[in-house]
Order: sequence, then structure tokens, then C-alpha cells
Amino acid sequence: MGSPLFERKPLHILLEEVHSENRLRRVLGPVQLTALGVGAIIGAGIFVATGAAAHNVAGPSLMLSYVVAGITCIFAALCYAEFAAMVPVAGSAYTYAYATLGELFAWIIGWDLVLEYAVGSATVATGWSGYFQNVLAKIGVEIPLLLRESPWRYDAVSGSFLSTGSMMNLPAIIIVAIVTVILVKGIQESASFNATMVFIKLAAVLFVIGVGVFFIDKTNWEPFAPFGWTGISFFGYSVSGQTNPMGAPVGMLAGAAIIFFAYIGFDSVSTHTEEAKNPQRDVPIGIIVSLLLCTVLYIGVVAVITGMVRFDQLDINAPVSRAFQQQGLGWAEGLIALAGVAGITSVLLVMMLSGPRVFLAMARDGLVPRSIFGVVHPKFRTPWKSTILIGLFVTSLAGFLPIDALLHLTNIGTLLAFVIVCAAVLIMRKTHPEAERPFRCPWVPVVPIMGILTCGMLMFSLPVDNWWRLIVWLLIGMAIYFFYGRKHSIMAVERAKNAAVKSSD
Ligand code: ALA
Repeated sequence: MGSPLFERKPLHILLEEVHSENRLRRVLGPVQLTALGVGAIIGAGIFVATGAAAHNVAGPSLMLSYVVAGITCIFAALCYAEFAAMVPVAGSAYTYAYATLGELFAWIIGWDLVLEYAVGSATVATGWSGYFQNVLAKIGVEIPLLLRESPWRYDAVSGSFLSTGSMMNLPAIIIVAIVTVILVKGIQESASFNATMVFIKLAAVLFVIGVGVFFIDKTNWEPFAPFGWTGISFFGYSVSGQTNPMGAPVGMLAGAAIIFFAYIGFDSVSTHTEEAKNPQRDVPIGIIVSLLLCTVLYIGVVAVITGMVRFDQLDINAPVSRAFQQQGLGWAEGLIALAGVAGITSVLLVMMLSGPRVFLAMARDGLVPRSIFGVVHPKFRTPWKSTILIGLFVTSLAGFLPIDALLHLTNIGTLLAFVIVCAAVLIMRKTHPEAERPFRCPWVPVVPIMGILTCGMLMFSLPVDNWWRLIVWLLIGMAIYFFYGRKHSIMAVERAKNAAVKSSD
């Protein structure tokens, strides 16, 4: 027998669990799942991060950055879809890793997903706060400096954190609290709330493209790639392309590593597998349709706004709505900013919905305490205790940390999760060739290998600090695993039982 660290959770146990007690309600169909995907995808990435990425990192070539990041996500999405259909229980990549790579990797990916969803939620809440304040400014309301933003801001020129004079980001804290309450009340309400939000932001995005296209000045697209075409570094050493004064890579690829954030969320469809009416068919549909749709829309939006306004004139906080103001379309600015707030809210909702579900899956396996993370509310049928705990954690991040630090950390954590999922598809095809696969990832091994390579490349296009932050996060996770999870996991309990039976023989 191999090391217990690499012990795998048998597939048949996973499937038995699908039919056991204490499950979530199966209420989501393909349209709702696609809406959850779009709800999770279009948000702060396109509405906020695009500005700084075009301005400081990629210029108009950010259009291609969106193509690169989109293709990267499609490789990962095809792998996600294979697993989501095969193992239709909550927990997403965590569950897949337990069945394929063993307990230690499962822990790593579960912990990493918590990073993605919690830090990602904090990033989105901070972006929401910026847009919300823009809307307030349009009606002449200003939040006092002390309560307006994180106490620190990352200064790209000096490479250090500067004081902003503010104490906390109060709007971000409040929106996280509201979303937490909605989520504790239940998925049914959350899904219909999400559907309305998705409708509003799709309308806004189509409006941006449909109206903005008439204001494009093609000369704004020249130079197309002012920072070059690449931007890759290896732990601080530039491998390809230019770097900024702080040594962080810039260029089209480096832009892709930043706006990769705009695609995060399609994977959260798979965390709702357990709530899907027909998971084998509908989850792959939800993931792939939502991703393709968003890719096309993003390219349209970036082409339009970089065509309307020169990249170095784009606003950093609200680039999409401000581009219209810069063209003298103030009425459109207000509408888009309002829809941006709605759109970003729906992202926050889905992201905060996903974290507790990963913990739920880990709790069922004994890797985190069941009495907290494994409890489903008797009336609402939601993992309410962990929803509240994660809400508190997100509040503390969103209230006090700057958006770029949060965004980069989310990206590197998510890219790592995608690398592991792609690797797991390859392994699972070898170890369980016979398992039923209602959705098969096409062109294996090419697609998973390309997924690993492209995600890895984007990880090396992010500023190096993020590697260190990711490593620290993983080390904290390792400590928890070795002190708690390893001893309490269902596999450990199983081993202890078998040992007891053997010794009594
Ligand atoms: N993709 C999500 C957003 O852009 C996380 O807000």
C-alpha cells in the first residue's frame, strides 16, 4: 500500500455520497447554471481591472490578452467539465483531486480554492466599492475619506504600500455583509436574484459594444502593443519582454495574467453540481457556454473602449463607464456605472456561494471540522455556519487591503488550481479508463497539457511577490493539514478501523 498522504478516495464512495442524506436541494437547470456562470464571470475584471491593465501593462493589445486568457480558460474548462460530469458532488476541483491524486493534493487544492473564492470575493467587493462610489458621485454624494478605501495603496512606481489616509473600505464591508445574509437564506432566492443581475449586466455590455462602436477612432489602436507582446519572468528574472521600473513583467502576455481575473468564475458552476437537476449534461453546458459567451463579449468591450479612448487616457477605476464620459456621453456613463454595480454584485454573490461549498465537501471528508463546515441549515438547506465564517474573513480582507494585491493573489491561486485539474484529467484517464464519462474532454492529452502550459505561463507573467504570497498561504494550509486534517479524514478513520480489525484477528 502507498503512503496515506496519497491515498485516493474511491470513485464509488463519491457516487454513493450523491445519494446519501444531508444533501443540498437539486433545483438548478442548464439555463440557471449558465446564468450562474455568467454571473460569476462578468464583473470587476472587465469593469475595473481592464483600465489599469490597458494603461500600465498591455495598451490596445489587451484585446489579444483577453483572447489568450480566454483560450487558457477553455482548456481548463474542458477538463473541469469532464470531472464535473463524472463526479457530480459539491466541491469542484477539490473532490476531483481526492479521487485522482490523493488526500494531500486534495487538501492543497481545497485550500487553494478557498484562497480563490475568499480573496477573489474580497477583490470583487473592493471593485464594487469603487464603482458604487462613482455612482454616488454622479448624484453628488461623497463617502468621507476615512471610510472610503483600504488604509494602504500599492504604488507601482515605488513598489511599496503607501498610506491612503483612509481607515477602512466601508462600502466593501457592507456589501459583503448583505450578500452573506442573502446566501444564508438560500440558493433558490440567490439564483433568481442572480438571474436579474445577469440580465442587467448583459444589457450593459451589449450597450457598450453597440453604442461605443460608433465612437471608435482607429488611430487610438496605434501603437497596438506599446509594452511589447510578451512579459514573462522567472522569480524576478525577466525571461521574455519588458519589465516596469519595479521589475514586474509588462506586455500583452502580462496583461493576460492580470485580466485572467475577468474569466474566473466559470469553474464555480462545477461547485453547484450537487444542486443541478441533471448534472451530467447541464454542468458542462453551463461551464462552456458561459465561458464562450463572455470571451466574445470581453473582446468586444476592450476593442471598443481602447478605440474610444487612447490607452494612456483610460480611467483606472471605472474605465468602461468613463470612456463614455470622455466622449461627452455623460448619460451613458451613469447607466453603465449603475449596471456595473449590479454586475459586480452578482459576481460577489456567486463567488461567496462557492467557498462554503468547497468547505462542505472537505468537512464531509473530515479534513476540516464537520461541526462547523459540514452543517447544512435544517430549514434553508445552506451551509450557513461556514457562509458566515467566510463572510467575516472576506470582510476583513475587503475592508483593509488594496484591490491590486488581492487581484494578483486570486489569479495565481486560481491558475494553480487549474494546473492541478488539468493534471488530474490526465491521471484519471490512466487510472480509471473504464469510469463512465458523460462528458469527455476532447483531444486528450493535448488539451490538458496545453492547459497546464498556458496556466503555468500566466503564473510566470505575474509580479513575483505573488509567488511568495501563494507559498506562504500553502504552508499555512500544510500546517493545518498535518495537525488536523490528516488525523481526522475519513481515510484515516478507515485505516484505524482496518488496523483494529486486523489486531483483533
Ligand atoms: N470574473 C470575475 C470578475 O471579473 C471574478 O469580477
